[in-house]
Amino acid sequence: MSTLPPASPSPERAPRLTVIGTGYLGATHAVAMAYLGFEVLGVDIDQRKVDLLNEGTVPFFEPGLPEKLDEALASGRLRFTTDLDQAAEFGDVHFVCVGTPQQMGSEAADLRFVDSAFTELARRITRKVLLVGKSTVPIGTAERLTTLVQEISPLGAELEVAWNPEFLREGFAVQDTLHPDRLVFGVTSPWAEDRLRAAFEPILAEGTPLIVTDLATAELVKSAANSFLATKISYINAMSEVCEATGADVVQLAEALGLDERIGSKFLKPGLGFGGGCLPKDIRSFKHRAEELGIGEAVAFLGEVDAINVRRRLRTVALIRQVAGGDLMGVRVAALGAAFKPDSDDVRDAPALDVARMLYLEGAIVSVYDPEASVNAHRVYPDLEYAASLDQALVGAEVTVLLTEWQEFRTADPAQMGEQVRTRTVVDTRNALDADRFRAAGWDYWALGRPHTAPVPVQVVVSNRSQAAGRVVDKSADLPC
Ligand code: UGA
Repeated sequence: MSTLPPASPSPERAPRLTVIGTGYLGATHAVAMAYLGFEVLGVDIDQRKVDLLNEGTVPFFEPGLPEKLDEALASGRLRFTTDLDQAAEFGDVHFVCVGTPQQMGSEAADLRFVDSAFTELARRITRKVLLVGKSTVPIGTAERLTTLVQEISPLGAELEVAWNPEFLREGFAVQDTLHPDRLVFGVTSPWAEDRLRAAFEPILAEGTPLIVTDLATAELVKSAANSFLATKISYINAMSEVCEATGADVVQLAEALGLDERIGSKFLKPGLGFGGGCLPKDIRSFKHRAEELGIGEAVAFLGEVDAINVRRRLRTVALIRQVAGGDLMGVRVAALGAAFKPDSDDVRDAPALDVARMLYLEGAIVSVYDPEASVNAHRVYPDLEYAASLDQALVGAEVTVLLTEWQEFRTADPAQMGEQVRTRTVVDTRNALDADRFRAAGWDYWALGRPHTAPVPVQVVVSNRSQAAGRVVDKSADLPC
C-alpha cells in the first residue's frame, strides 16, 4: 500500500504540533505529521534519543521509518528537543505519547509519565491550545487530567484536554499512522473537534472514517480493541489446547473458522501467544480499572485470556522438554527469535525470550538468534548465548525452536539448516514453517496444537446445488504452513 502523503494541510488552518514522548508511538507520529506537511516539535526527556532523532537515526527498528525521518528532517518541518518551555511556546496542539507501562507489583497502568507530561505542559501554557492524549490509559484518566491541568495552568478552565487513541502496530507503524483504518476524537467542545480536524486534515481528506465522541468512550475504544484482539488470539490458543488433547489440528481448525466472514482469519493464528508492550499490559490494566469501578465481572474473562496466553509458554517448554527426551539439562537448543513478533526489535513481554529464559533455567544451553532484537534481548537476559546468524545459532543444536516467525526463518532451506544441527528436531511454536518441507528434509517436525504425524490434507468441497454434485479441492498446498 502507498505511503505517499495525501493532500497537504491548508496553511491557514494548520496548527503547529508538538509530540511529547518519542518512543515507538511518538516518534512515528511526529515524523508522520511532519511528512504530511505540519510544523512539528518532538519532545523527550532523554537527550540521547533527541540527539539521535535530530541526526536522522531512529532509536528502534521500524521498517520504513528511517526514510520518512530523513525526508521530514530535510523538509525543515521537524526537530526534536528536551526543552518543554520551547514546546509550550511552539505548539497549538500538543500530542502526549508517553508510555503507560504496567506498575511493578500490580496489574494497574503506571500513569506517572502521562501525569507528568500533562502537568509540566499545563504549567507553561498561557494561550488557548489543545492538549491531546494518545497514550493508552484507564477510563476516567482524561477527565481527571482535565481537572488537574485546569488547576495548574495560568489559562485555568479554558485549557481543554482531548483523547485521540492510536491503533498503530509495530512493524507497520508508518502505514498505520499515515493511513489509519479509523480516527477517534474524544472531545468536550466543538472547538476541540475543529482543532483535531485541522491536525488530521490530510488524513481525513483521504476519506478515513472518523468517530467523534466523549473522552471516556475514546479511552475505552482503545482498551476494548486491544482486549478483543487478545481474546481472539487466546480463543484459538484455547482451541489449540483442545487439539493437543484430542489429536485434532488447530491450523486446519483456524482455517475453517476463519472462512466464516463473521469470524475472519485475522488474529486467529494459533501459536505461542501474544506479547509486547501493549496487549498484555492493556488487558491487565483494563481488568484492574473495571474492578476499581465495581464492574470487575464484566471483563473477568480477560483474566482467563491472560492465563491461556501464559499457559502457551509453559506448554511450549513442556513440548521442548518432551522432544528432548524428558530432561533439558545440557541440551543444546537453537532459539530462533527473541522479539515479541517479526519486524520488531521489541522484547517487552516477548513470549520468545520468555521461553528461551525458561529453557535456560532448566539447564539447556540456549543459543538465541534474532535478526533485529538481539541487542535488546541481551540487555534483558545477558546470561543467554546470542548468535550472530541463523547458521551460528544452529551449530550443534539438538532441538531447534522457532519462536518468532521472521521471514528469514520461514524461507530458510531446511536441508541447509539440517547441515548445521546435531539432531534434526524442530519445534514450530508459531505454526509458521512448511512442515512438509522440513519432514522431506529429514526433520522430526513438532508444533503446538497439531498432530505429530502429517495431518490429513484440507479438502474444501465446492458443491453445485443444481447438479447436486460436489468437487473436491485439495488445499493442503495453500495451508498457512
Ligand atoms: C497492538 C495492536 O494490534 C495495535 O492496534 C495497537 O495500536 C497496539 O497494540 C498498541 O496498543 O499500541 P502490536 O503490539 O504492535 O499492536 O502487535 P500486534 O500485531 O497486535 O501483535 C501482538 C502479539 O500478538 C504479538 O506477540 C503477535 O505475535 C501475537 N499474535 C498476533 C498472535 O499470537 N496471533 C495472531 O493471530 C496475531
